[in-house]
Amino acid sequence: MSYLKLFSVLTLLAPLLWPTSAYTWPNTDTDILEAIYYQQIGYDGRRFSAFVRTCETGNNLGPGRTNSAEWIRTAYHDMATADVETGIGGMDASIGFERSRQENVGFHAFTETLLFFGDFMSARSSMADLIALGAVMSVTACTISPNRKPLFLPFRAGRVDATEAGPFGTPEPHQDLTSHTRSFEKQGFNSTEMIGLVACGHSLGGVNGRDFPEIVPAKNDSTNVDSKQAFDTNTVPKGVQLSEVITPIPLKPDNLFIAMNDGGNMTITGDIRIRIDDNLPTDSRQVFIHFKPRSPSTPAIPPVEATRLSENTTAWHPYAPSFEWWNFTTTVPASQGFESFTVEVVDDGQSTVHANGGGGFPLQTDLIPQNHLSCSSVYLGRAYLLNLTVAVRDELNFQDVKLTVPIPVRQAESVVPRFESHVLDMEKTGVLADTGYSLYTASLDVRPEHMYVTIMSYGLSGRGGARDVEVPFVLWKGMGTCPYS
Ligand code: HEM
Repeated sequence: MSYLKLFSVLTLLAPLLWPTSAYTWPNTDTDILEAIYYQQIGYDGRRFSAFVRTCETGNNLGPGRTNSAEWIRTAYHDMATADVETGIGGMDASIGFERSRQENVGFHAFTETLLFFGDFMSARSSMADLIALGAVMSVTACTISPNRKPLFLPFRAGRVDATEAGPFGTPEPHQDLTSHTRSFEKQGFNSTEMIGLVACGHSLGGVNGRDFPEIVPAKNDSTNVDSKQAFDTNTVPKGVQLSEVITPIPLKPDNLFIAMNDGGNMTITGDIRIRIDDNLPTDSRQVFIHFKPRSPSTPAIPPVEATRLSENTTAWHPYAPSFEWWNFTTTVPASQGFESFTVEVVDDGQSTVHANGGGGFPLQTDLIPQNHLSCSSVYLGRAYLLNLTVAVRDELNFQDVKLTVPIPVRQAESVVPRFESHVLDMEKTGVLADTGYSLYTASLDVRPEHMYVTIMSYGLSGRGGARDVEVPFVLWKGMGTCPYS
């Protein structure tokens, strides 16, 4: 089966294209998935793709087993019960609830795939999006060849996880051609597309004789307990709005923290991730951050030169992007403050200013997490702990400052958790002299019976004052460790 054919049929699993609009930072709906997709190894590498480094990765799991085949099969079985007319079913991670069905026989593929993806779930990376991303990455891994660029299918985000099992209807091998054709019609595919999908989907992985002895004989082989034998050779549910295609962002700020200091100053630290253009040597590169003060009547803030980090972020997949990182820090009086910044990149005397679509990279300074006064911890099997202190701008006169923490909770019959929000009032605990800010604190201590390791986050809100402020998605990052007691 040719790679191009595999590409053309698997793109059918991707949603319809619509015109793209330019990305502006931050996009809290997609930034984390962009990092999971493109930051593969090295500095802040997310390692999702480590398990589909090549099409064959996973062979060590058992004879004939490969992660790419299991991930693609999981994606297909999750979406196969789609009914394009009613808009029910589709890629929604309902496979988590449907693993015991006859139509989903497969000891390894579904449970192990979902458990692996679980580590990458967050309030902004649903299991359904991760299943789709897994299929996209598997196709890239399985189309790596010495003389051609591998295939990078367009990936969009925004799928919502189901909270219960979906309809039956995944095609089974014992069914006749008419029922297969009907089932693919329901999923939105005609018979030519059905043949392409089944044939190309089955150019990866194989059948295990333990579960399907009617297709391949079960063997008594201790080195192949599954009796695995290799093969010869869009839709989302109604009401789900997918994002733009997630492409690697050329220049992206990350890890921004602002600390309020004694003496009425504030210190910002942060990283700038810059995509490496292989044709452009960057040894002589300089990067400058130009801050715009929040208070226009105050003097200009001098440009801040950033320092290149020694480690880059690279990729296992050829032609996937690599990034270099630059770190910066500066301190200004809190009365001057920060509103936004632009990034100037100078290569051999040639300067390019990155202004995030014109308005600069915005800095939110109404509710500022104080990481040096906060802590967080996930004690596996025991507790999720967060003790958060936030500097709150006094002039906004909020009546109500809240901390919202999505905690992964167990769903009966699924290995996929759902997030349940814990909403806490933040209490004023002090005034920061000469800054115009006060400190607010809240503590979360959740000790569930069943724990999951996901990417933990929180949100902040300030209401009932001069204007409402929402900070939707902040990672548990850059804080000390909360002690367990
Ligand atoms: C009439 C429709 C289909 C039927 C009846 C069917 C049936 C099967 C069966 C019986 C297996 C062996 C599973 C095992 O031994 O664990 C299998 C494996 C697989 N199927 Fe399908 N399938 C269908 C359509 C598709 C489609 C459309 C795709 C993807 C686009 C797909 C992707 C795969 C993959 C990648 C594997 C290998 C899994 C592995 O090696 O772990 N299948 N399929």
